[in-house]
Amino acid sequence: MTEINIYCYVVFILLSITVQVKSQICKNAAQYDRCSTNSACGCFSRVGTNGDSGVCGFLWPTCSSLVPCNTSDNSCAQSNTVCVQHPRCHDLPLCYPVTMSKQNICPPTINKINSKWKQHGITVAGGNQYGDQSNQLNTPTGIYIDDNEAILIADTGNNRIVEWKYNSNSGENIAGSNDDGDRPDRLFMPTDVTVDKQKNAIIICDSENARVMRWFRQSQTNPQILISHIACGGVALDKDGSLYVSDKKRSEVKRWKQGDIDGTLVAGGSGEGNLPNQLQGPSKIFVDADYSIYVADTNNHRITKWKKDAKEGIIVAGGNGQGDSLNQLFHPQGLIVDKLGQIFIADTVNHRVMRWYEEDTNGSIVVGGNGKGKEPNQLHYPQDLSFDVQGNLYVADSANHRIQKYELYIE
Ligand SMILES: *[C@@H]1O[C@H](CO)[C@@H](O)[C@H](O)[C@H]1NC(C)=O
Ligand SMILES: *[C@@H]1O[C@H](CO)[C@@H](O)[C@H](O)[C@H]1NC(C)=O
Repeated sequence: MTEINIYCYVVFILLSITVQVKSQICKNAAQYDRCSTNSACGCFSRVGTNGDSGVCGFLWPTCSSLVPCNTSDNSCAQSNTVCVQHPRCHDLPLCYPVTMSKQNICPPTINKINSKWKQHGITVAGGNQYGDQSNQLNTPTGIYIDDNEAILIADTGNNRIVEWKYNSNSGENIAGSNDDGDRPDRLFMPTDVTVDKQKNAIIICDSENARVMRWFRQSQTNPQILISHIACGGVALDKDGSLYVSDKKRSEVKRWKQGDIDGTLVAGGSGEGNLPNQLQGPSKIFVDADYSIYVADTNNHRITKWKKDAKEGIIVAGGNGQGDSLNQLFHPQGLIVDKLGQIFIADTVNHRVMRWYEEDTNGSIVVGGNGKGKEPNQLHYPQDLSFDVQGNLYVADSANHRIQKYELYIE
């Protein structure tokens, strides 16, 4: 039934196409990988090309409408079709109509330069005053959206990590309890959380206990202390599973590869200060696919980027003193970088989220920036942000004790 509805919808869109628009390409993607804000679209592997490119198209064309490619040279006789793998329909490669891969059917995901988010946020977790009930939060300062669109929240004031499943109106404790303490099963003002997908575990910045913890998501038993005696400000993993932790007191970031006992210095570590080799009270961090480390250099009101093995960071956002001009930040705490290198920043004391390209002098306001407050277009000390697979933006709006979601829209 749903399939029929979707099919009718697509036919409707196809009929309403009047101009030629670019079709989407999938690079280095697996079969049926997500590639669009439309969840009914996915990647099809091209046949007869190098194998590293595919087509982003509607996933549910009627199988019987697709004819097999020419078996001798994988060509397609029909015009406007390309030869793709589509094992859900047929073992043999099929000719797929390129009209089903146009941008107005399969709009590109987050990787679009002029992407915009609705200015009014929707509260998707908390927002029921502060408190420790399952529908409440108390000063959430770290978030992570997992592949199932569940929101993992460092519910700092409640000494716990909670998981709000997609579309849920309450959360579930997945680490810690409402009591603080330094027992291994307790947390004390956790400020950041990330997911180790390989190990199906969460990594927690257990700040007031000055340690980094690992809890396995299945069992939730035997939490492990990974690192002790560290004024943890943020945790991040790279694509190999190496762990990076910022230390607010030592103003440095260290990396632990699998099996390492001692961490390796990867940013700062030259005392507190604002020189290129220094940091001052760093908070959250992000590591990109090239192992560059981005640091929310909070007390320097800037974001610095440390390329792999670099001894000095470069300023990629702010660094012009505290303030609310477009070239300034004010105690930024959280950041995330997308595949295009756009840097999104929780500009905490300016109550706004900024976007910056590395070479820009000025950033631009993504959401907030309307003074501190609890209206849907306002924030109050945002401390962290994350994206879901569809490119929607989530913000830990700490002093409003809520998580706000801002929907991506394509112009
Ligand atoms: C398939 O391709 C070969 C080689 O280009 C060609 O000779 C043949 O006619 C094609 N078959 C069909 C059914 O189009
Ligand atoms: C940066 O923003 C300021 C206002 O805050 C403006 O006067 C200036 O022209 C902008 N500079 C650039 C390069 O866009």
